[in-house]
Amino acid sequence: MNLIASVDENWGIGADGQLLARVPADMRQFRQHTLHHVVVLGRLTLATFPHAAPLPERTNIILSRDPAFACPDAYVAHSQEELFALLHGYADDEIYVIGGASVYRQLLPYCRRAYLTRFHAVYAADRFLPNLDAAAAWQLTACSERMRHAGLDFTFLTYENSRPLAY
Ligand SMILES: NC(=O)c1ccc[n+]([C@@H]2O[C@H](COP(=O)([O-])OP(=O)(O)OC[C@H]3O[C@@H](n4cnc5c(N)ncnc54)[C@H](OP(=O)(O)O)[C@@H]3O)[C@@H](O)[C@H]2O)c1
Repeated sequence: MNLIASVDENWGIGADGQLLARVPADMRQFRQHTLHHVVVLGRLTLATFPHAAPLPERTNIILSRDPAFACPDAYVAHSQEELFALLHGYADDEIYVIGGASVYRQLLPYCRRAYLTRFHAVYAADRFLPNLDAAAAWQLTACSERMRHAGLDFTFLTYENSRPLAY
């Protein structure tokens, strides 16, 4: 499976339940990767979407431990075991883990590739992605040119995991 995230210079991903920055090129790249594929997300990330609705034109799998939680037009998995059972119905490279922090942390060992947008800034983040530069199994394999939107510099990065776990 893949992971997709935007991170600041300190691997921050969110603050106060929201994203750190909104950059149209980042949103476009997210859409291009995930459209018509499977997205895996935590319940708190779903709550940040407009009307707390699943992403259109994608198979949404939402993680929640609440047995009463339901979401129209989405699957709900109540544990990692339930999630993996659902994921066995899909091709590994069509699956994208889209956050938030708790879901990235749990599923990172199973991901083969991470598509990151690096914001060249430091925010007062309260949610983080594990530092892939400090993870022996992960290597940076691609880096775009540096781009800029509204005074914010950003770069697209690809990391690959040489030892992804089977699920
Ligand atoms: N920069 C980015 O690319 C990016 C992407 C996505 C999100 N974010 C940010 O990340 C933050 C949210 O992250 P977060 O860590 O607070 O929340 P989260 O990971 O989105 O959601 C956490 C919730 O997911 C459910 N969950 C997690 N693991 C589970 C498991 N193994 N089994 C069943 N349910 C499970 C639980 O829901 P219940 O409480 O219902 O049990 C848990 O409270 C926000 O600031 C958001 O904007 C950033």
